[in-house]
Amino acid sequence: MTAHRKIGIMGAIPEETEGIKSLITNPKEEIYVMRTYVSGQINGIDVVLVFSRWGKVAAAATTASLIQKFGVNEIILTGVAGAISGDLKIGDIVLSARLVQHDLDARPLFKQHEIPLLGKTFIESDKSLSNWAERAINKVLETKTLNNTLSQKTLKAFGITHPKLYKGDIASGDVFFSNKKQKENLLQTLPTIKCVEMEGAAVAQVCYEHNTPCVIIRTISEEADEKAVIDFPLFIKEISSIYSKEIIKNMFEKM
Ligand code: ADE
Repeated sequence: MTAHRKIGIMGAIPEETEGIKSLITNPKEEIYVMRTYVSGQINGIDVVLVFSRWGKVAAAATTASLIQKFGVNEIILTGVAGAISGDLKIGDIVLSARLVQHDLDARPLFKQHEIPLLGKTFIESDKSLSNWAERAINKVLETKTLNNTLSQKTLKAFGITHPKLYKGDIASGDVFFSNKKQKENLLQTLPTIKCVEMEGAAVAQVCYEHNTPCVIIRTISEEADEKAVIDFPLFIKEISSIYSKEIIKNMFEKM
């Protein structure tokens, strides 16, 4: 017998969580350990929505509560990320293949980036959640859907023409990347990384330890360089919250 599905949806940006909240029917809010959890249904499927809060520790604590207290058995995290790989542009979406903590370094006891005691450096995302998300993201990125969702003015302001979906590795750490040197240093030790953010690998580790499938979806908000601090807040307001709501809406329409 398959378990009753209860999906945890985490938004890494409060504006994003607000947008997704409007999709939930019969919403019931509960404050627990400084976080507001919204339980209800999207398209008849039980969900619990919460803002992850920022950084690895906060996101790990939120994930543990989602699983242990709210009983979710799958987790989707959406948010923004800075581009690391040169082929990514603002407005592209990265779907996690694997997650790694770029700031984890317990050498000489363990290899650089290896999670102590788990004997793992990368944590793989769940294939079936990933396939499900992929179909929804492709729909959101179709020119027709995009033009219905965002104004021409907004798309032009961010130089978004034909945004693409990439499946690849995501690095997380308690650092906001805002210069080229940080990117170069990261790529030297972790050459497969597509983008950088501050929560995904923590969520993935907690999910792995609880045997809970998860996937991370990140929209590229800036290039993690000197311009990041200007592009980041603008992007969140104008684009990321709308993208995330559309992705979640499309995912639950195509169960
Ligand atoms: N999330 C979005 N952009 C980021 C950046 N430049 N560094 C870390 N996390 C991010």
